[in-house]
Amino acid sequence: MKTVETLIAKLVDEVDYPHAAELFKTLSGGKRLRARLILTIAPEAPNAPLLGAIVELIHAASLLHDDVIDEAQLRRGVPSVNATQGSKTAIMLGDILYSKAFSELTAFDPAISRAVAESVTRLSVGEMMDVAMAESFNTDHDLYLKMLYLKTATLIEACAFSAALLSGKDHKAHATYGKNLGLAFQIVDDILDITADEATLGKPSLNDFSEGKVTLPYIDLYERLDEAGKERLVQNHAKVLNEEEKGWIRSQMDDYKIIEHSYTYARALCDEAIEAIGEETALRAIIESVIQRSH
Ligand code: FPP
Ligand code: MG
Repeated sequence: MKTVETLIAKLVDEVDYPHAAELFKTLSGGKRLRARLILTIAPEAPNAPLLGAIVELIHAASLLHDDVIDEAQLRRGVPSVNATQGSKTAIMLGDILYSKAFSELTAFDPAISRAVAESVTRLSVGEMMDVAMAESFNTDHDLYLKMLYLKTATLIEACAFSAALLSGKDHKAHATYGKNLGLAFQIVDDILDITADEATLGKPSLNDFSEGKVTLPYIDLYERLDEAGKERLVQNHAKVLNEEEKGWIRSQMDDYKIIEHSYTYARALCDEAIEAIGEETALRAIIESVIQRSH
């Protein structure tokens, strides 16, 4: 991973604009899940660290833009770039990062560059769907999962697929693994938004629902509530919640065992991923760490 970090810094320096490099240094790198995945699947491939650096730049760009779109004030516990530097700067820094990433992608086999590029189109479509779906209280489970696939899982799927191509492994099986890892990752994210405290999350709790995002636990809860409960939940959609309403939502989630239900769903995706890749213990460890993480 040290090589990936060095390469990320090198690529950003090559942009040849110190202001952008300085701003980039203020970002928290996060878990680097995508790069870790590539290195785990293709540890011997000489170009794996570069591919890891490229996808981390794309991911960073997407989060910069996402925070502008979501008007998020915090990212990974620190003020977002849009909060400190303004939205224009956040967008432009994102543009620099993802265009630089795409330039470097041209060095790869077209099957890889196409897979990654297409996944970024899907990512962008997923983001647009996410924003559109937050306009009203979505109760459609399958539509929600489709959006999650596009917004989060598709890039991770492309990482696993590409790394398998780099190392001559079964690309179909690894793509399945990546897709399920991405979906499970996002579902756990949805759960943590409800269960983790604000200090751990680095953003307000129950933030998704306040942003209008009706995530899997809320869709499941809505299905189980009686008419009065349904109405109360919908009333709270896309609002800043007071402590009483937060408490009510949490108690209803407890009563109907919603969090356990969402974890069971994530676990099933995880099992399907493990079945696809078989004996690869390091990949099992990655997906287990995603399911069991607390932040
Ligand atoms: C986070 O979702 C957002 C994403 C995973 C994808 C965002 C994609 C774009 C903005 C498309 C543009 C892409 C590029 C490369 C510029 P979230 O808001 O649910 O999660 P959060 O709580 O981490 O903000
Ligand atoms: Mg967001």
